[in-house]
Amino acid sequence: MGDERYDFVVASNRLPVDRVVDDTGASSWRPSPGGLVTALEPIMREADGAWVGWVGQPDLELEPFDWDGIRIVPLKLTEHDLENYYEGFANDTLWPLYHDVIAPPSYHRVWWDSYVSVNQRFANAIAAVSAPDATVWVQDYQLQLVPRMLRQARPDLTIGFFNHIPFPAYGIFSQLPWRAQIIEGLLGADVIGFQRVADAGNFSRAVRRLLGYATKSPVIEVPSHGRAPARRVIAKPFPISIDVDTFERLARSPEVQARAAQIRHDLGDPKTIMLGVDRLDYTKGIGHRLKAYGELLHEGRLKVEDVTLVQVASPSRERVETYRQLRDEIEQTVGRINGDYGTISHQAVSYLHHGFPREEMAALYLAADVMLVTALRDGMNLVAKEYVAARFDDDGVLVLSEFTGASDELRTALLINPHDIEGVKDAIMRAIEMPRAERVKRMRAMRKRVRENDVNRWSEGFLRTLAEARRRSGERSSD
Ligand code: G6P
Repeated sequence: MGDERYDFVVASNRLPVDRVVDDTGASSWRPSPGGLVTALEPIMREADGAWVGWVGQPDLELEPFDWDGIRIVPLKLTEHDLENYYEGFANDTLWPLYHDVIAPPSYHRVWWDSYVSVNQRFANAIAAVSAPDATVWVQDYQLQLVPRMLRQARPDLTIGFFNHIPFPAYGIFSQLPWRAQIIEGLLGADVIGFQRVADAGNFSRAVRRLLGYATKSPVIEVPSHGRAPARRVIAKPFPISIDVDTFERLARSPEVQARAAQIRHDLGDPKTIMLGVDRLDYTKGIGHRLKAYGELLHEGRLKVEDVTLVQVASPSRERVETYRQLRDEIEQTVGRINGDYGTISHQAVSYLHHGFPREEMAALYLAADVMLVTALRDGMNLVAKEYVAARFDDDGVLVLSEFTGASDELRTALLINPHDIEGVKDAIMRAIEMPRAERVKRMRAMRKRVRENDVNRWSEGFLRTLAEARRRSGERSSD
């Protein structure tokens, strides 16, 4: 115990499992929320590697253990770390900044200090479990300093980094007081992956502007510093996806299909069920969606007897003030719409502030005639891809914000600008009224695309590029 070394190590702020304690005090593990876990879990199971991350509760120190074929290496975060590194710098500075300042980012030096210190602890923990010449894959914006810290401690490692959220344009990124440190931190990796072409471009531009390094997409030339040799870093897009087969299999199961029929029935068999599924986050445009829907009811273009909107809003980052405010706003709006338009037998919005297991999600997707994804900014949005994967019947209409990474691929969705409320309303009406032949044609094209680019392709593509980059740098240094 404690001294095992692994050839493949993944690190993310949150482990793929959350610790849950039941009424009797017994603890167990269940998959944690968020797209990252969904994307990486199948790869990890095959790779027989280790996963370093936080257990989801403060001040909990646990020994490494195996979970469903994955070696889990828990890292303790204190209450202070949570307030300053996680809720502060990660989720009240970087998150709003990287999502185009939809909410104003806060800049606090104590938060930054905590971010540096937690990133260093992650780097130390990864270094301790990595075998000589191991491959390490660091995930997401919470850990951007880890690649450089890890390279300094362990130059033998091959280091990849993937940013699951957008990387902002330089005009926004340059607000960050610690912008150069972040860029230098990331450049410790051999390969830096982004969701979209635009994200990779924004990063390369920031490197040129802040550090003056030469870049020729996808290569960034990092000059030698003291004893550290010159290196080549690759920065390019690898759009993430989902485990399509597993998801489709789930949707095809008789239990899930029966549950979908039950959901329709329980909602009073309306002509149209619309669905929104999001973490309760201000980037998701839930308010914009509700506004459009409320206006359609108000104008009589929709009737509450004919349509129900099911809005799943899973709890998220509930101690961060912006998230608290958002919850109040959304719940007030839902209450108002239901109060104004609901009847004893028909609710306009069925609002669920919970997370649900995958089976229930698959049933909801099958039951939904129209899926609404109205994010104001989103790295990818895996919900859009899950909806498409679940629709083995080739039916259902996806209304999709052009500000999601998914819109680069799902071109036959009804693409919308969520800020344009009239445009959203028209897209909703078009989705509801769309003839079956057109629905099928559009859904088939999306299903083909999602099938071709599933999560295995994402991870294989990234890891192949990582292996090649390292081989080339080995050849260069032995020249
Ligand atoms: C997004 C981020 C992930 C994060 C997830 C859930 O998908 O890209 O890194 O884990 O949200 O957020 P949380 O703060 O609860 O981990």
